[in-house]
Amino acid sequence: MTTTYWEYIQLDQLLSIQSGLEGPGDVALADELHFIGIHQSIEIIFKLLLRELRAARGLLGANYVPEHAMPEVVKHLGRANEALRVTIAHFRYMELLTPLDFMEFRAKLGTSSGAQSFQMRELEHLMGLGQDQRHELLRRLRARLARPEDADPFTPFVLDPLGAIQSQINAHITRKEAQGLDASVDKWSRQHIQKAMDDIETQGTLRSALEKWLFRTPICDSTPPPPNTPIDDQAFAEDQRVVRHFVEDYIQRGKSVGWNDGHVQAVRQFLGAGQQDSKLDWHTERVRAALLFIETYLDLPLLALPRMVLEKVVELEKLASLFRGAHARMAERVIGNRPGTGGSPGLIYLDLTRDLRVFPELIQIRGILIPRDRRWAFPGMEEFGFKLGQDDGCD
Ligand code: HEM
Repeated sequence: MTTTYWEYIQLDQLLSIQSGLEGPGDVALADELHFIGIHQSIEIIFKLLLRELRAARGLLGANYVPEHAMPEVVKHLGRANEALRVTIAHFRYMELLTPLDFMEFRAKLGTSSGAQSFQMRELEHLMGLGQDQRHELLRRLRARLARPEDADPFTPFVLDPLGAIQSQINAHITRKEAQGLDASVDKWSRQHIQKAMDDIETQGTLRSALEKWLFRTPICDSTPPPPNTPIDDQAFAEDQRVVRHFVEDYIQRGKSVGWNDGHVQAVRQFLGAGQQDSKLDWHTERVRAALLFIETYLDLPLLALPRMVLEKVVELEKLASLFRGAHARMAERVIGNRPGTGGSPGLIYLDLTRDLRVFPELIQIRGILIPRDRRWAFPGMEEFGFKLGQDDGCD
């Protein structure tokens, strides 16, 4: 048997689904075909992107991450980033739809909206977007509106988009079944979302996997004891001593390059640095110390790939924000400042979403680095590749 291209990628099916709600056959208007085709193309790329992120999360979140897993993590994150970049390029194409073109068929959309793109919501969830960020977004949205209560109808979408979509799906199924209509597409969507949520519930987010991996990063010559080691255990105390010593040395080096008291205080707050009044738990403190260590000694061969992982995650965050910005600029070009079909206040809301952040610490750490020539050699440095300079130790 020979296999053909059209069979392998199921081209017949792929090219038969641009019919909107009317079907069968393509929608009549070229403008509407443009609109549907671009949405579908982005959803396919989202699918690939989510697969890459889940692969990276799986590798990083394992209890043991071997050295040779690092290039794989970098590969998966690199592909995820490229996928996101490709979706951003789609908006340049989409915005060639003029406002009048869109008006020709906008009524057909009814209340459907990209806000219901559950793959995009899964992406936010899988990355690990925190509830604090969502609440802050809502606070800022209400502050921007002349009548804050105008945000109310859209609030469930701001605070819990996947939950809001699930409620809409359930209501839709009930309505359809009451009218004897086929609800298979809604049931498929419900099942898809549930599967995605279960996956994140059991496997965690990219952020939690990254933290787990960072927590175990060797710092100087110390590796943390296995999970569940009691805090009065000697190995635990020794690791904590080395890490805090490293951080304290760092701060002293910072002072030598002119950090003022205010900056030192802010750095101590961010790093915890073993301070009595620190609000950080040990897990967070060690994760941040690991970030500091990797970003500082980035040119040691054994830290080059971990640094690359961080770089890819920073890029992912940047691209997610660019995606939101490119989408907002495209939307304003097509609908101006009208409200969206999904019930949001439109542009004001979309612009605020650009500030959502999943990994702010990865940026914060970059604001407190000391120059290359102020770094010092630490015990066990040879294990990371080569020596940098004089050995005056952090031990
Ligand atoms: C002419 C084209 C488009 C216009 C005018 C437009 C407009 C909007 C508006 C106004 C919103 C806010 C929610 C609402 O009230 O509906 C929104 C949300 C959204 N749209 Fe679009 N959109 C367009 C195309 C796209 C495309 C191609 C995608 C890709 C899948 C997309 C994905 C999204 C997503 C993910 C949201 C939720 C954003 C968030 O809540 O963070 N949109 N869109």
